[in-house]
Amino acid sequence: MSKIEVRRLDFDFSQHIERYWFEQSAFKTHLFNSFTIIVYDIEKYLIQNVNNRINFIDDPQLKQDAQGFIGQEAQHSLQHQKFWDNLSFLGYKFDTYLICLRFIHFQILARCMSPNFNLAVSVGIEHLTTLIAEFVLENNFLATAKPPLKQLFEWHAVEELEHKAVVFDVLQSTTNNYLLRLLGMLIGHILVFCFLNWGMVILLYQDKKLLDKNVWQEFLEFWITKDKLLYKILLNAIDFCRLDFHPAQKDHLFLIENVNL
Ligand SMILES: [Fe+2]
Ligand SMILES: [Fe+2]
Repeated sequence: MSKIEVRRLDFDFSQHIERYWFEQSAFKTHLFNSFTIIVYDIEKYLIQNVNNRINFIDDPQLKQDAQGFIGQEAQHSLQHQKFWDNLSFLGYKFDTYLICLRFIHFQILARCMSPNFNLAVSVGIEHLTTLIAEFVLENNFLATAKPPLKQLFEWHAVEELEHKAVVFDVLQSTTNNYLLRLLGMLIGHILVFCFLNWGMVILLYQDKKLLDKNVWQEFLEFWITKDKLLYKILLNAIDFCRLDFHPAQKDHLFLIENVNL
């Protein structure tokens, strides 16, 4: 039996949710809004890469886990996309940004690179989302966010921790090329980090908040001086470089069990 449970939550985001739903902070709100925008296509990219390989997986347990992974990521895509209506209702536009994101993932990477290369990039993306999930749950980071968004991101974080090893194992089932794994990690990290911040900048620009001193102070605190997420990402990436690294080596069960879904 796979421990990767596909929960079919059905979020309903009222249009009365305030514009800055996370501590009245434009920075924090738009960082997470940006995640909500990019996650729809990035998860589809991950699903496509695992799906391309699923029929070649011999291990029945891994095959079942891969199916669970696809089910969970499909739900994440679907539920996050529901909040796009709220963003559009508030006047935000992100069509051109999405065209760029889709072009890079589906026209350049998926079409021009090998299935194994795309799987390696997917492993890199999953390694970063595992760290973000750990950070969010470990620090109860969303404690002051508005309830439906808090629940959305915490549910997503729990499932990221549950399926953290699946894409890694799928890649290992086809190749254990160490350099490919490292290159995929690097590209996966660059893609998520750049698109996440680019989306945030686009939303801040539309709010005329790009020159707001508080926004950039919070930006520095989050990435470098207080929450130090950039530093944590670097340490996490270095850990990934160990020859005997495996995502399951770190125990996240206590974080998963702490969340009521
Ligand atoms: Fe996800
Ligand atoms: Fe994931």
